[in-house]
Amino acid sequence: MSVVLELKGLTKRFGGLAAVNDVSFKVREGGISGLIGPNGAGKTTIFNLITGVYKVSGGAIEFRGLPVQDKEPYQIAGLGITRTFQNIRLFKELSVFDNVLTACHASAKYGLTEAVLRLPRFRREEKALHEKADSLLEIMGLRDRTDVTANNLPYGLQRRLEITRALALDPKLLLLDEPAAGMNPDETEQLMRLIAEVRSRFELSVLVIEHHMDLIMGVCEHIHVLSFGCTLADGTPDEVANDPQVVEAYLGAEEAKK
Ligand SMILES: Nc1ncnc2c1ncn2[C@@H]1O[C@H](COP(=O)(O)OP(=O)(O)OP(=O)(O)O)[C@@H](O)[C@H]1O
Ligand SMILES: [Mg+2]
Repeated sequence: MSVVLELKGLTKRFGGLAAVNDVSFKVREGGISGLIGPNGAGKTTIFNLITGVYKVSGGAIEFRGLPVQDKEPYQIAGLGITRTFQNIRLFKELSVFDNVLTACHASAKYGLTEAVLRLPRFRREEKALHEKADSLLEIMGLRDRTDVTANNLPYGLQRRLEITRALALDPKLLLLDEPAAGMNPDETEQLMRLIAEVRSRFELSVLVIEHHMDLIMGVCEHIHVLSFGCTLADGTPDEVANDPQVVEAYLGAEEAKK
């Protein structure tokens, strides 16, 4: 198995709280892995560590064998790790198309002079970027909404748009933080199928955070379970679903809500 991302003894402390405590796991190249756990388990913190938003307190993060825990967020993005956020981040006042086009521009190769003078290379690139935005929107089922203002999209489609923007950055590893939050079961299933399709088409590796275990059982090949910052289980969906500790952590969390 070829590994795209490896966390080794990853630790993050906020004051006295170990939000992530000695967590180790691997994400297989070309695979879809899940990161699950109850509220406050440390899932989003792990994404913030991988993307360089937070500095690690201990341990290492390797992307394609290269240590990245000391790199800046823009360097990590440049290496090919992109993400979506638990709270959707879009240019709310821009159209669906422009939201994707601005992301496509982040990977454009022309310089400012060429853009200002509208030199041939600029025009060629510009056309290619428009085509890229178009085709991404088509693949993601947003083609008939290109002119809609992002803010006016139904919630589920805003989440899709955010994933489309992440894809526009040509990731090798896509990190999705609760992409199905706020969706009904049908929308969730559609989205999970789309994620699987996108993974194959773009030859990506995907790490997806989910709060509800049942939602990602069907799509993930491998699942890592966290609870209070620590690893609770790691294995195939069947293995983790039948793990007594996992069952207890989830039942415990459900009971606490009542
Ligand atoms: N910047 C921060 N400063 C202090 N504490 C933080 C910070 N970020 C996260 N935490 C704490 O770390 C713990 C893990 O939070 P995190 O957001 O990673 O959990 P999560 O698993 O993503 O939960 P949820 O399912 O609710 O999104 C929580 O106790 C949280 O309060
Ligand atoms: Mg979170």
